[in-house]
Amino acid sequence: MTGPGGHGAGVTRRGVLKGGAALAFAGLVPRAARTQAVDGHGPLVLTAREGRAQLLEDGGPDTAIWGYDGIVPGPPIRVRQGDRVTVRLRNEVPQGTTIHWHGIRIDNAMDGVAGLTQDAVAPGDSFDYSFVVPDAGTYWYHPHNRSWEQLARGLYGALIVEERAPPDVDQDLLVVADDWRLDDSGRIDEASFGAMRDWSHAGRLGNVLTLNGQPFADLPVRSGERLRLRLCNTANARVLQFRFEDIAPVVVALDGQPVPPQALDDGRVTLAPAQRADLMIDMTGSPGSRAAITEVSGDGRLVAGHFVYHGAETVPARRGEIPPLPANPLDGDLDLADARRVELLMAGGAMGGMAGAMHDGEYKPIRDLVKDGMVWAFNGVAGRTDRPFFAARPGETVVVRMVNDSRWPHAMHVHGHHVKELARAGGNSTASGDWRDSVLLDRDETVTVGFKADNPGKWMLHCHMLEHQAAGMATWFRVGDRA
Ligand code: C2O
Ligand code: CU
Repeated sequence: MTGPGGHGAGVTRRGVLKGGAALAFAGLVPRAARTQAVDGHGPLVLTAREGRAQLLEDGGPDTAIWGYDGIVPGPPIRVRQGDRVTVRLRNEVPQGTTIHWHGIRIDNAMDGVAGLTQDAVAPGDSFDYSFVVPDAGTYWYHPHNRSWEQLARGLYGALIVEERAPPDVDQDLLVVADDWRLDDSGRIDEASFGAMRDWSHAGRLGNVLTLNGQPFADLPVRSGERLRLRLCNTANARVLQFRFEDIAPVVVALDGQPVPPQALDDGRVTLAPAQRADLMIDMTGSPGSRAAITEVSGDGRLVAGHFVYHGAETVPARRGEIPPLPANPLDGDLDLADARRVELLMAGGAMGGMAGAMHDGEYKPIRDLVKDGMVWAFNGVAGRTDRPFFAARPGETVVVRMVNDSRWPHAMHVHGHHVKELARAGGNSTASGDWRDSVLLDRDETVTVGFKADNPGKWMLHCHMLEHQAAGMATWFRVGDRA
């Protein structure tokens, strides 16, 4: 266990300046209250508007952001499984916007995709969302119009769906991670919005990492407690890898869906953009100590934040295994023998050697594609088309073989459904068998997923590295005839 003084100078100084975390403990640990967003209470109003956030360390300048209710992350929405959620989006930012409820197996009309399931909500207008949440778990919400700009400016928040019988924990802690690209004066780097250099490479990578909107965040815990940590990666493009010092987290859910409890592979959790993980952690540190959370995807270890143990208050340590979360009502009974099989060839990007692709109904050589802001393609087509990539009968099993024929990783997201990882080839890992809404493919990796197309409507299938999505890696499929 690292004691005070055992940290890098910057972190220690900050710990001293903040006078410890004592104040943050006032009122610890109420069971988080559910949001008044459920039927019978009137809609929860979320206003997309400008705001300010302290993204640099205390004493540095603050940053003009866009956020729901002017804050980042936006207000966490906490409801119970099976609830009807009603939210009124008010748009006070100077662009059309929507809200997409990421990972929710939602009524198609409420999916929030501008140009596919609704029109963008114009500045000054509002839109009412109303939907039922069938699955418990950790989800999130964000715009689905100019996502690459609107998320980078701070428009996102968590949507937590509690189990009807929640697991027995002492604290339920949400941690929303993001990376920001700020200039020296703390302003969001706007000059690089739309930069083809980012769009054709890894996407917009930031230079400041925040947890819950704070750099070097202190997360208050008590010695002995069992913590449920809900981690969410809202970065535009960065694949985050967190390591936890001195504790042994157990994964119990991924992208909202329960998995058999398992220790972290290699002590780290990998979260592609849009992915979530629920971890159960028995907090074994001593009162008054701190334990670092580091981000290790790059060459070094960046301190993302710390668990800060309360100096006095402890809770009796739990014994015994961490039980699995209750199953969600997801139909996992795949008919692989009779499945509709489709292949998705993912190509383009820097060093990808793509000669050209279809865009806006005509074949264009890469030079002309780039002028249109396109540099990626699915099956030789850049960007969303009028016709769906495929159509499935309601209830049909669909198997998608995704072939990443590019030099870059991608995080493929399927709307309206969760998909089961059936096979992986060409990379370092084997198929997990997990149910996900966002699937990471390494460079040159092929991943096969299957799902039951049981949610009628028009659903996006795209890379959640938002610059890749904008530059061509976006398509859609249809379930049913009439949608
Ligand atoms: Cu989280 Cu289509 O998006
Ligand atoms: Cu991508």
